[in-house]
Amino acid sequence: MISPKKYARPAKSIPKGYKTANDFFDYVFNDEDMVWMGQNTNHLHDENEIMDSMMQSIKKRDYNKYPPPEGFPELKELILEDLGLQSEFDILVTAGGTESLYLCCNDILAPENNTITCDPGYLIIDNFASRFGDHVKSVPIYNKECGYKLTPKLVRENMDANTKLISLVDPLNPLGSSYNKEELKDFADLAEDNDIYLLHDITYRDFAEEHHLMAKYAPEHTLTVYSFSKIYGMAGMRIGALIGIPELIKSIKTIVINDLGTNLVAQRGALAAVKSKKQWLGRITDITRSNQKIIKDAVDQVSGAFIPVYPSQGNMLAIDLKNTGVTPLEISEYLLERKIFTREGSYTSSRFGERYLRVSFSIPPEDVHYFAKTFLEGMESIKRSKLCGS
Ligand SMILES: Cc1ncc(COP(=O)(O)O)c(C=O)c1O
Repeated sequence: MISPKKYARPAKSIPKGYKTANDFFDYVFNDEDMVWMGQNTNHLHDENEIMDSMMQSIKKRDYNKYPPPEGFPELKELILEDLGLQSEFDILVTAGGTESLYLCCNDILAPENNTITCDPGYLIIDNFASRFGDHVKSVPIYNKECGYKLTPKLVRENMDANTKLISLVDPLNPLGSSYNKEELKDFADLAEDNDIYLLHDITYRDFAEEHHLMAKYAPEHTLTVYSFSKIYGMAGMRIGALIGIPELIKSIKTIVINDLGTNLVAQRGALAAVKSKKQWLGRITDITRSNQKIIKDAVDQVSGAFIPVYPSQGNMLAIDLKNTGVTPLEISEYLLERKIFTREGSYTSSRFGERYLRVSFSIPPEDVHYFAKTFLEGMESIKRSKLCGS
């Protein structure tokens, strides 16, 4: 008999009235009026070359064929160029950062190895790492002292002789913290001295004011995870990439899942996306930065609430509600009833989920204003009804 596997899983609560998380997701997805702040996707692209190239590809019925299994060479080159990495690196086009993360865990970890991640963090990495290695040490980082991120000092305190993989999500989902050059150099020394691999997930890189690549400091010990879901606004197309030195990518090619290649229409869109990036990037980051200011102004009006990392370097941030008398679940349900989809902290933390609400802000400014107004009303109204009830 087959029983469900017991890997580390995010503590996803199913909202009231739904049988499964999938049913809930289907409901929010199909509601066209829903304000989309519960996933860090990007809704700020106009009709542009990305859309045109995918439409053309479909019209030509390109999709009758399989694509080249490792990705179109032109796309591979463009991604490396986008990162400023040279031909000493190799690259595999994948069905999203998610597949890249899975492949890294599968390739790097032996059964006796452990992985270091952080809490809060992107929990599917803990899940993947626990499938292939011995255990995952999820280091608590929700405090000012460490700057709300996994530091080299924390890694040194938590590693042992079997530590083989360190997950660095940069900027970090859900907090938006990111690394400076000195921290990356310190991680590079740590990785080289101990033969540990660094999983540098740069999914939110282009939202950051400044960003540096681990691959430049520890090329032989870094795997870089790249996604088209966020800045390029292509989450539904499921496309990303994995970059490393040829020796690492050669090893990963032996364990690929999609050996018939990644979605061809998505690759056509991705080609246009990287080529046109300079034309739209500034507009999108200007909007996301002013959107997060709108959220900050609202949060500052709520007694006890604060944003741990501000400005966030990603397109999401956490709002700490611990001392407000309102829980993340209560306010997220209030918002959902008013067609605003957000996520309680439990989606990205097993220890601190009760503390914060995560909101994403790469959406039109008018929707962010609607959130700010509704959030303030909701905090007041929930507090008031609790006072009356007690
Ligand atoms: C840190 C991080 N990595 C990877 C992903 C998934 O990326 P993709 O859509 O390319 O699979 C996400 C999605 O939210 C993420 O937050």
